[in-house]
Amino acid sequence: MYLDSRLLAVADLVRQGSRFADIGTDHAYLPAYLLLNNRIEYAVCSDLRVGPLKNAEETIKKYSLENKVNLRISDGLQGYRDGEVNEIAVAGMGGMLIAEFIESTPWLKNKDMHLILQPMTHSEDTRKALYNNGFFIDKEVVVKDKNKLYVVISAFYNGEFKAITTANALIGELHKNTDNNSKEYLKSLLKKYTIKLEALKKTNKDFSDIEIIVKELAKCLQ
Ligand SMILES: C[S@@+](CC[C@H](N)C(=O)[O-])C[C@H]1O[C@@H](n2cnc3c(N)ncnc32)[C@H](O)[C@@H]1O
Repeated sequence: MYLDSRLLAVADLVRQGSRFADIGTDHAYLPAYLLLNNRIEYAVCSDLRVGPLKNAEETIKKYSLENKVNLRISDGLQGYRDGEVNEIAVAGMGGMLIAEFIESTPWLKNKDMHLILQPMTHSEDTRKALYNNGFFIDKEVVVKDKNKLYVVISAFYNGEFKAITTANALIGELHKNTDNNSKEYLKSLLKKYTIKLEALKKTNKDFSDIEIIVKELAKCLQ
């Protein structure tokens, strides 16, 4: 079974033998791939809407995975019970929505819980929610798919709350990465915030926060 490089990057971070949940599963390609490759024990695949869940059902039937998959309608993690899964992927959603899932689900705060998050936008909101709720980011991957860059965040709970600046939230752990995709991603952020800074300098608005972001991004790329 074929997975695009974005979902493959998520799949690569999944722990062997885990009890896996795919939030906003749509076509359920990710859990189907993991089951077909004997990577997980079972999967709960959920989505907010009936249409995407029907897509998931088709994939699960196509690959005869019915015995290892539970399909359900769920808004974020609301339809899950504590202890049911220990590995959760949320891919292809906005970073703010992923942050809301983290904020509103107390049972995620468990040292055996592994979160693999792939925000399409505003990854800084996802990182802020993680750090504010006692999670740490052990790894971040930037992957290119059809010439677009995607960030994948791997996080665990350790109960230590970390105050972070907006610059920290934008960069996350990417400053540790030496690969070309990560550098290209940070360069695109630097370009975006440099343009913002130049525009702000022409007004009488405060630009000190944006200036710090530009400085921090430039430091990462030295
Ligand atoms: C762009 S698709 C991503 C599908 C797949 N996860 C991927 O990355 O390819 C986003 C999916 O998230 C679902 N979704 C949106 N908001 C949701 C929520 N609050 N809870 C669960 N699923 C949601 C949508 O219905 C849609 O099927």
